[in-house]
Amino acid sequence: MRNIMVTGGAGFIGSHTCVELLQNGYDICVVDNFSNSSPAALDAVRTITGRDFPSYCCDLLEEEKLGQIFEEQQIDAVIHFAGLKAVGESVQKPVLYYHNNVTGTLNLLRQMELHGVRRLVFSSSATVYGENNPIPYREDMPTGQTTNPYGTTKAMIEQILQDLCKSDSRWNTMLLRYFNPIGAHPSGLIGENPNGIPNNLMPYIMRVAQGALPYLNVFGNDYPTRDGTGVRDYIHVCDLAVGHGKALDALFAQEGASIYNLGTGHGSSVLEVVKTFEQESGVPVPYQFAPRRAGDLPEYYADAAKAQQELGWQARYTLADMCRDSWNFIRKQGAAEKKAGDSE
Ligand code: NAD
Ligand code: UD1
Repeated sequence: MRNIMVTGGAGFIGSHTCVELLQNGYDICVVDNFSNSSPAALDAVRTITGRDFPSYCCDLLEEEKLGQIFEEQQIDAVIHFAGLKAVGESVQKPVLYYHNNVTGTLNLLRQMELHGVRRLVFSSSATVYGENNPIPYREDMPTGQTTNPYGTTKAMIEQILQDLCKSDSRWNTMLLRYFNPIGAHPSGLIGENPNGIPNNLMPYIMRVAQGALPYLNVFGNDYPTRDGTGVRDYIHVCDLAVGHGKALDALFAQEGASIYNLGTGHGSSVLEVVKTFEQESGVPVPYQFAPRRAGDLPEYYADAAKAQQELGWQARYTLADMCRDSWNFIRKQGAAEKKAGDSE
C-alpha cells in the first residue's frame, strides 16, 4: 500500500483529503503544527474512516524534526497543504507569510530529495491568475500578477516546483489551483470554523445565521455582474478531496510538472449564495451593501475541462449541497460545544 505524507492534514481541505485517501486504500501520515487546526480533526478523520494513522506535531520550519519523520516513515509521495492562507494578514505580516509558506516548502523539498521522495501534490490557488486574465481561467494563462503576499507565495512555490522538475527528471509534481472551497463532510464531523471574525464569505454567513454577527456586509453591488455582486466558483471541499485522490493516482503515472484547476466551471454571485443558503437552512441571513473590498475582482471561475479530460475528475456537488453541508457542520459543532460546556 502506498504511504502518503499529508502536510497540513488537520486543516480544512487536508482533513477531507485524508478521508478520501484512507477510503481509497492509501496509507497516510500527517504532519501539522496545528497553528490553524486541532488534533481533534484527525480523530474525526479516524472516526469517519474507521482507520488509524500516525500524525506528527511538527512545523515545516523545523527541518531536522521533519527529516526524522522521513527516517521513520517509508513515504511514497507528499500532498502539501501546510501554509498560512489569510490574505489580509499576509499584507500586514509579509515576512511571516514568505517564511512560513516558502521556507517551509523549501525545507520539505530538501528533505524529500534527501530521502529519495520525488512526488509532490501542491495546494495552489486561483489567486495566481491575478488581475489581467480573461475568464474563465485556463491553466495555460500567464500567472504571477498577484495582489498580495499570500498569493505571491503561491506563485513563487509554483515556480520553484516547475524549476525543480526541469532540473531533474526524477521529480514529478502536480500544482492544483483551487477556486473557492466551501461545504463540509456530510457527517458534520469535519469542516471549517475559523477563529475570530471570518474574512471569507461562507464562514461569515454561518456566523450571521448562528446569530453571532448581526448581518453580512456584501462588498460591492455595482460590479459588472448579473446582480452587481461579486461572482466566484464555489466548490464543495469533498469534490476537492476527490480531485486530490485522482491527482495522486495520476502522479504515480506521470513525469514532470502538471497544473490543474479544481473548480466547477460555474460562478455564483454573493446574493445567489445568500439566497441558496436561506433556502437550504430555512434561516434568514440579513445583509447590507457595503463598499467594494480592496483587491477583489468582479468575477472569476475555472475552465474545468483539463482536469476532466486528463484526470477524469469533475465536481459533482451543487451550491445547495455546499450550503447544506456547511450548515450541518456548524450546527453539529455548536451542539457538541454546548454539550461539552454543560458537562463542565
Ligand atoms: P487550513 O489553515 O485549514 O490548513 C492548513 C494547515 O496547515 C493547518 O492545519 C495548519 O495548522 C497547517 N500549517 C500551517 N503552517 C504550517 C507549518 N509551517 N508547518 C506545519 N503545518 C502548518 O487551510 P486550508 O483551507 O485547508 O488550505 C490548505 C491549503 O490550500 C493551503 O496551502 C491554502 O493556502 C491552500 N488554498 C486554500 C484555499 C481556501 O479557500 N481554503 C484556496 C486556495 C488554496
Ligand atoms: C479569497 C482570497 C483568495 C483566497 C480565497 C480562499 C482575497 C482578495 N482573495 O478569495 O486569495 O484564495 O479567499 O481563501 O481575499 N464577500 C462579501 N462579504 C464578506 C466576505 C466576502 O461580500 O463578508 C464577497 C467577496 O467580495 C467576494 C466573495 O464574497 O466577491 C467571495 O469572497 P471570499 O470568500 O473572501 O473569497 P475570495 O475573495 O474569492
